Amino acid sequence: MRSSLPDFPWDALAPFGESARKHPLGIIDLSQGTPVDPTPEFIQSRFRESSNSPRYPVTAGTAELRDAIKSWAINHLGASGDFDVLPLIGSKELVAWLPTIVEAKKVLIPEVAYPTYNVGAIIGSAQAIPVPIDASAWPVADFAWINSPSNPTGQVHTDQEITEAIAWSRKNEAILVSDECYLDFGDSAHGRSLLSISEGNNKNLLAVHSLSKRSSMAGYRGALLIGDSNLISNIREFRKHAGMMVPLPVQNAMVVALGDEKHVQEQRDRYNNRRSLLAPALQRAGFTIEYSNAGLYIWCTRNEDAWTSVAWLAELGILATPGSFYGAKGASHIRVALTATDAQISDAVERIESAVK
Ligand SMILES: Cc1ncc(COP(=O)(O)O)c(C=O)c1O
Repeated sequence: MRSSLPDFPWDALAPFGESARKHPLGIIDLSQGTPVDPTPEFIQSRFRESSNSPRYPVTAGTAELRDAIKSWAINHLGASGDFDVLPLIGSKELVAWLPTIVEAKKVLIPEVAYPTYNVGAIIGSAQAIPVPIDASAWPVADFAWINSPSNPTGQVHTDQEITEAIAWSRKNEAILVSDECYLDFGDSAHGRSLLSISEGNNKNLLAVHSLSKRSSMAGYRGALLIGDSNLISNIREFRKHAGMMVPLPVQNAMVVALGDEKHVQEQRDRYNNRRSLLAPALQRAGFTIEYSNAGLYIWCTRNEDAWTSVAWLAELGILATPGSFYGAKGASHIRVALTATDAQISDAVERIESAVK
């Protein structure tokens, strides 16, 4: 067992969860980015129809799924040039294992970031180097993550920022992976895929997408890798040996999910409506909202220690996440997830407003 893996940070939040649960009206858990809205029925139905599945699925994905991912990448992401695709068992496993698979030595990660980028570097015995978004200042390395819209900040990279990151990758012959699992959830800003900015030259470039949030399928574990054909071919070979294959009923459900954008638009409207209710209430309680232009989270600060903000909300029965979970620069921020029902979000707004009246 790797002794250097960090303690699972959620354990530190547990006492605040207990305190929030004591609220007479119960807890409103806004600490986790786990979808609560039902998986659309047409996706569930394709999954159920595929339940007779005696044979092993293939790592590369069925021809139907590969075609669905390719069309979606071209029509929806704006990918062009030569690229390949690969289904994943959710994107977290890729984030955790990719540095190991490609034998990365130095992994650049955003300085405020989803913690699994760091975990992946540790598992791969690579050095993780936190960097700002501006890639013109990045050091030499052989691997970098970008994440737009960001978890936890909801910040959206500009085209110029992505272009700089691509230039860094080309100059250093380094792998650049863009985690785009919130790309469909634009609000006041809409992000663009790395693959639409690469102008058809996808060497060393990969984009990761997930159906967990896009289609409320987190329990299915379905995600996609799109980009450099040579890299994907090597990653596919590794995954074949390691038994990393997506179950067939999930592959079939992914096909129909990728073929429909209407449910994604409805989901985006739900999250954006929740943000428009919760953000002003947090502002009235003295929080300054930063970024939060897209994605699933509100990133805010009251210029106090993150745990003080977490404790204040926990007394109202609301559980948020301290920004310190995402890097030292988040020490005075909190992340508030929009993954609660509309009724719970309205209830949270009422609780905050009555506390500051
Ligand atoms: C930035 C980011 N990447 C990847 C993931 C993993 O998602 P999944 O494994 O469900 O695809 C998450 C989950 O919250 C995330 O926030």
